[in-house]
Parts: sequence; structure tokens; C-alpha cells
Amino acid sequence: MIQDSRPKHSSKEDCLRTTLKRLFIREKELVLESRVPSSGELSTEFEDIKEFGLYLHIPFCEQICSYCPYNKEIYNPGSAKAYTSAVKKEIDFYSSLTGNKPVTSFYIGGGTPTTMLYSGIEEILEHMFVKFNMQCKTHMESHPNHLTSKNLNAIVNMGIKYLSMGVEAVQDKHLKMLGRPYTAESAKSAIRRAVDMGFECVNADIMFALPNQTYKEIEQAGHELVDTGVGQVAAYPIFRFPYTKMGAASEEVNYNLSTVIKRRKMLGILENIFYSGGFERTSVWAFTKKEVPRYCSVTVPLYIGLGASGGTYLKNIFYLNTFNVSEYIKAVNNKTLPIALSLNLSEKMQMAWWFYWRIYETRFKKSDFMERFGKEFNEVYGKYIKIFSFFRFLNDGKDQIVLTDRGSYWLHAIEDLFSINYISKLWGTSKQEPWPGRVEL
Ligand SMILES: C[S@@+](CC[C@H](N)C(=O)[O-])C[C@H]1O[C@@H](n2cnc3c(N)ncnc32)[C@H](O)[C@@H]1O
Ligand code: SF4
Repeated sequence: MIQDSRPKHSSKEDCLRTTLKRLFIREKELVLESRVPSSGELSTEFEDIKEFGLYLHIPFCEQICSYCPYNKEIYNPGSAKAYTSAVKKEIDFYSSLTGNKPVTSFYIGGGTPTTMLYSGIEEILEHMFVKFNMQCKTHMESHPNHLTSKNLNAIVNMGIKYLSMGVEAVQDKHLKMLGRPYTAESAKSAIRRAVDMGFECVNADIMFALPNQTYKEIEQAGHELVDTGVGQVAAYPIFRFPYTKMGAASEEVNYNLSTVIKRRKMLGILENIFYSGGFERTSVWAFTKKEVPRYCSVTVPLYIGLGASGGTYLKNIFYLNTFNVSEYIKAVNNKTLPIALSLNLSEKMQMAWWFYWRIYETRFKKSDFMERFGKEFNEVYGKYIKIFSFFRFLNDGKDQIVLTDRGSYWLHAIEDLFSINYISKLWGTSKQEPWPGRVEL
């Protein structure tokens, strides 16, 4: 049975979400269905795509963190072996459709990709570089406990140029509350070791607005992270997803006023520390040293997602693989596509999707919109840009739009109204049901 995983406090938020959905995409409901696109349909989609990105999901972790919304299960060598072979088959299927078209962005996320070091990830990457025309550098997530010197050498030898790790907090009491299995000192040593390896960018993820976290502690965290020499910090407020253990147990809600104000103030503290430490804002939540190239997930608008829960977006269609690792393996081994849910996108939805992701990146060009949709950006979104500009959320140049710090926060808070709700419904349902049938967003 599909459970309704909507937060219980959400009637006002739902009303605002529906209004925003109607405004931007002219659709009241978005419905993902179990329809699997045919190979013919997919090859037509690829015909006029010039370049695309790849996302590879590694759904294994050594522990399950209570707050974490991502698709993962406990690592075991047998599943990793079967998963490796299934992902290679999925690669074969897509490479036969994409031919020599260049892959211009590649991201390995999870779960924890480094659980598969020496147990399949090297083999998957090797296969990928043979089968696809890879024209980009590889970005990968990792866990601080995995970043020993031996593992860092293995990661470098795999060709990873951009490395991220989930540090989460730099005070032991917060790490303990989150159930993270290391001390603040050992996490900082892992950052320093990674920085010394000469990656193009090392990113540390942290979460803020943790229960009982003080402004002073956030200030300390910002300074200590800058002192490690890290190239980028991505700082997210902790979100409570209703289908996680923490979300289910939590009294605190994502959008009460005091939570929103606390998040804004903490982000302000971090902004000041990072700006004076020579960092600049490179996405809503990320700060990167000026001379360092940005660590980021898939950067091109169209992408293929490989593995359990991999999501693919190809102009007219978005679809999601089954989240269940054994069902994913079974489907691929039976020579069927492991797609569980798909959504056909009207042009309005494609434009809204494009706009959503560009806002997230905090700067974009109107001419890119013209190139993608053959329409003037201002004709479609000009009136919203005028309103956002009036509230000093963004600077509207002739071609370039750049979000201000104020805009980055508030526009993203609005996006979160969608994201948290959509993720909770879509991922929450997909976690419970390998083949959900239908999900209404
Ligand atoms: C896939 S994990 C990072 C890699 C690795 N699995 C680890 O835990 O170190 C991605 C990141 O998402 C962020 N994250 C996870 N759950 C979150 C939540 N409930 N709210 C905000 N950020 C969250 C954390 O900063 C985490 O490092
Ligand atoms: S936070 Fe990282 S280690 Fe923890 S469950 Fe999520 S993906 Fe796994």
C-alpha cells in the first residue's frame, strides 16, 4: 500500500505550493506513472541532444543515518558484486543509444560511493570510459572515515578530480547527536589529507540549524573549516524528511517562523566567514574559494541516471529507476529497463524545470533559455523577474541574471517548499514500493 507521506502540518504550505505550481507550470497536479518508455522513444529523445550528463548512484552505506533522505542500504560484498554487473549492463544499453555524443558532466553520488572501493566501483568506471565519450572530469562523494591515505590514492588512481565528503559538524556533541561515527578532529584530518592529494576541488558538506546548535558554534565551524584549507563548503540547514527516522520522531517542522529565522541567521554568519576567507557563493548553499573550480552535481540540463533510484531527464520526459537494489538488479538481468516511474513534460513544465535549476545555481543567462527553447526568456518569465528584482532578490542584467544573497536564501526557501514535499512523496513512496504504480506530487 502506498502511504501518504505528506507532513501533517502542511495545509497552508500545500495551498502556497499549488498556487506556485499553477503560476509557473499551469498544472495543478504532477503525476508520475509506471509507464516505461520504449527503446524507440528513447532513441528519438537522444536524436537531437548534443551533449548530456551522467549520474551514477551507489546505494550502499556502512550505517543508516537517522536524518538521511537518500536511497541506500547497508553495504555487503555480494550485493556490490551483483550491482556492479547490473550497472555495466545498464551502461551498455544507454551507450548503444547515445553513440559518440559527448558526456560533459559526470557525478557519482549515494549513499556512499567509497563503500564500493576495491569492490566494483573501479570496474564500473573503467567500463563507462570505454562505452561513453567522456569529455569531463569526475566528481564523487565520500565519507570521512574512508579517506585513509591508501583509499585516497585509490580514488586518485580511479581518475576522480573532485571529491566531496559529509563532515556534517565540527563539534563532537553534534556529531554524536547525528550518530556520525567519527570525531571532529578526525573529520578535519580527513579534509586536510584530501586537500594534500591535489584534487581540483575538495568539498566538505556540513549541516546547520541542528537541534540546540548555537550561533557561536556555527561561527566556530565556519572558521575551523576555512582553516583546513578546504576548497569548498556546502552548508545545508538540516531538513526533516517525514519518511526518515529523525523526521518521523521530530516535533520541529521545516517551515515554522523561528526555524526559518534561525536558518537565515546561521547562513548569514557562514556567508561572512567564507567571504572574508576568500570564498564566493557558487550555489545557494555552496561557497568556493575564488581560485578553485566548483565541486558540483550534474551541471548540464539533460542527463541519464544510472543505478537504483537514478533519475533521467531528457527534454520531454523525466523518469526514475526503481529504488530497490535487488529489484533493480533483477530487472536489468532480465533485460528490462529498471524504470519505475515516468513523467511526460509539457513545454511549460520543461521551462519551469530549467528555471528552477538555474535559480539554484544563482546565476544564469537569458540567451541559454533562448538556445534551449527558442523563446525570449523575458517573454516567459519577465514579469516574475521584475517582481524578484523589486525585492532585491536578483540583479537583472541585459543577458545575465545573478541572485543576491538575500534572493539566494528566500528563493531557495520557496524552492524548498516544492523540493521537500516532492522528495518526501516521491522518494518516500519509492522507498516503500519498488514499483509504485503512480505518485501524485
Ligand atoms: C550522500 S550524503 C554524503 C556522503 C556520505 N554518504 C556521508 O554521509 O559522508 C550527502 C549530504 O547530504 C546532506 N544531507 C543529508 N541529509 C540531510 C538532511 N536531512 N538535511 C540537510 N542535508 C542533508 C549531508 O550534508 C550529506 O553530507
Ligand atoms: S548521510 Fe551518508 S552515510 Fe549516512 S545514510 Fe546518508 S548517505 Fe549514508
